[in-house]
This record gives sequence, C-alpha cells and structure tokens, in this order.
Amino acid sequence: MDRDKRLKAISLGLSEETQAIRVGPDRTPEREHSEAIFTTSSFVFPDAATMADAFVNNSGLSIYARVDNPTVDGFCKRLAVLEGAEACEATATGMGAVLSTLMAHCQSGDRVLMSTGVFGATLNLVKNYFIKYGIELELVSPTDLRAWEEALSKPAKLAYCETPSNPTIELVDIQGLSALCRAKHCLLVVDNCFMTPVLQKPLALGADLVIHSATKYLDGQGRAMGGAVLGRRDLVEPVTSFIRSGGVTMSPFNAWIFLKGLETLSVRMKAHSENALAVAQWLEKQPQVERVNYVGLESHPQYVLAQRQAKAGGGVLSFTLKNGSREDAWSFLNATCLMSLTANLGDVKTTVCHPATSTHGRIDESDRQLMGISENMIRIAVGLESVDDLIQDCERGFSALTG
Ligand SMILES: Cc1ncc(COP(=O)(O)O)c(C=O)c1O
Repeated sequence: MDRDKRLKAISLGLSEETQAIRVGPDRTPEREHSEAIFTTSSFVFPDAATMADAFVNNSGLSIYARVDNPTVDGFCKRLAVLEGAEACEATATGMGAVLSTLMAHCQSGDRVLMSTGVFGATLNLVKNYFIKYGIELELVSPTDLRAWEEALSKPAKLAYCETPSNPTIELVDIQGLSALCRAKHCLLVVDNCFMTPVLQKPLALGADLVIHSATKYLDGQGRAMGGAVLGRRDLVEPVTSFIRSGGVTMSPFNAWIFLKGLETLSVRMKAHSENALAVAQWLEKQPQVERVNYVGLESHPQYVLAQRQAKAGGGVLSFTLKNGSREDAWSFLNATCLMSLTANLGDVKTTVCHPATSTHGRIDESDRQLMGISENMIRIAVGLESVDDLIQDCERGFSALTG
C-alpha cells in the first residue's frame, strides 16, 4: 500500500517509542492491522528457477522456518532499531543466544573472560561444556576495570558481562571496558536483558554484541521463551549461520508475542523503574534489612556510573537480611503471598526468589561466594502492581522473621 511505503520512508526519523510500535514485519496483501503470524515450516515457490535463486543465490525469499520466517524477521527488525544494531538474529531462548554467540565466535584454544556476575546457566554453559572443548575461562569482577585490564593483558577472544548483574546488581562500566577490549582486539558481549534498549544501549557505549533473553522484559508478561543477538552485520552473520545449523530458532508464535511486547516496552520500563525505586527506598528503611542493592538508590556504590550509563534503574533489586540465614530468607518468602515465588523476572507480576537456592542453586558454592550471592539475599523483580500492595506483602515477609 502506498501509505505503508510512505511510513517506511520516514521510519528511521521517528522517535524510539513510535519505532517500537510501527517498525516491524511488512503488511501482507490481507491488510491486517496486527502483525501476521506465519505458522508454516516451509515456503513454496512459483517455479524451479525462483526456488534455485532463493537457495543458491540467497535472493531473500523465505525458504524454511529454521532459516527464516517473516514474523521472526519482523521481531528482529523492530528490536534492531531499538538497540541501534545493524543486524539481529533471534533464538529459541536467551541461553540459545548465549550458546550461539560463543559457538560462532570462539574456538579451541581461545580465552574467554566472563564477569563473575553472570546468570548461573551462562556460567555453567562455559564451565561444563566450552572448557571441555578447549576454551579457557577467566572470571573477572564486574566492577573492577583494573582487573579487566589485567585479564586482557593476555590474549582473549571475547569478554562477556551482564550489567546490572543478577542478583547482586553490580555494574560494568561498558564504555570503559569497551575501550580496553578494543585496544586488545577482544570482542565485548553485553547481556542487556535487565535494562533493555529503552534504558541502556550497550552498542552505543562501545559493545560489539548485545544478547537478550526475550523471555524477560521484551515479552513483559511471562508468556514465552526467546532470545536475540544483535550487533554489526559481520559479527551477527556467524551467529546466524550457527543458529541455522544448530536449530536454536525462535518460533514464529513467540516472535509475535515479543513483537507485541516491544510495543509497550518503553512505558513498562519506566513504570518498572519507578515502582522498583519506591520499593527499594522503603526496604532501605526497614530494621530487618542489612543492605539494598538497586542502582537507582543514591547509596549504591556505582550510582554515578548508573546515572551516566542508563536512563533509570530498571525493575530488579536484591536485599540482604540483617544477621539473616537461609531459613530467614525462606521464612520471608513463605510468608508473602502477592509476589510470585518464581525465578523469572521482567513480568508485570512481581516475582521474588532466594537466588542461592534457585537461580544460582546449581553453581558451585565457591562460585556463589565469588559472585557475592549470600544465603541471606532475596531478589525482587518489581512488577507493575501498586507499590502499597507490594510493600504490604514485604511486611508479611518481615513479620515472619523472629529476633
Ligand atoms: C541475565 C540473563 N541472561 C540470560 C538468561 C537466559 O535466558 P532464558 O531463560 O530465556 O534462556 C537469563 C534467564 O533468567 C537471565 O536472567
């Protein structure tokens, strides 16, 4: 339609909030308003020559859903605009994105640097599998640029971090680390799932690749699993190639859910950040609380960096109980009833968990200690319910603590 062509022509000049709603898959001849879901395994061709052109010359026509699908491509297009990325590839899960990136860019003999503050499964993926295939791993404290510099004094292929870290909410200075990595020809990969492109843009700060667990805020309502890898085309292409061979492809139905999620991402991230800040400020005043970890708090040791690097604090915070034990943390969790006792985050429903025995329960005790995940730590991924109701639920939790 002429209107669609005119919209496409102006789309790069639109504001981000508008792009998140208006950039995406092309409308089909059916003139649907909401984006179409292409639930098909393969695509047909009018003749053999066109088919050959698609397979041999990469003409751009869809071939087979493990390789390409218009709904998945539309999600990639929309997310790429938001992250400021030249290319995007979607995966079946966030871990699929981590796996594909490492498989595409590392080989036997390479050294990988990883922040101690990464998601448990990410650490386990490298420790249990990549090391077995000849990749060397060195863990580095996220907050210490000098430690990164020292680690980079020996050749390294790839540096990997999450910022803020889960669940300790420590920051990596993306700009500082990217300068160090660039000088040593080391790829910097940043998992941006806690902040999303609405609050933080790692590529603009110098990162080479961005990873997402779309399962979190990109969906926003805890409905579907997915992931994405974004960056310069020449860095994403090897990832695409692995995904096609390895089959960790995103399903078109999930891509459609994420397309819809992206439409409201901007307003949700602002609201998550406001709610989390209010809950964090309240928690800081409670006598049972030893320390609150939230980047939006002025008491956070990296508050200045947080202000420079991200537009707001996001939805996730953690806190430790004064003189608290695992039993205390469990008593707190068991006494709450509004917050969902579940490991996911990024949902409009607030979630609460005990990281040491859930999200990070399968990693070695020594690694947990290195990461700063203590037995008295509780993580809350603040949703969009009323802050008053959330505070009341925390009060239920505190009332179960004795002493
Ligand atoms: C920061 C972070 N990265 C990656 C992942 C993995 O994502 P997925 O569960 O979609 O595989 C998670 C999951 O919790 C996560 O918290």
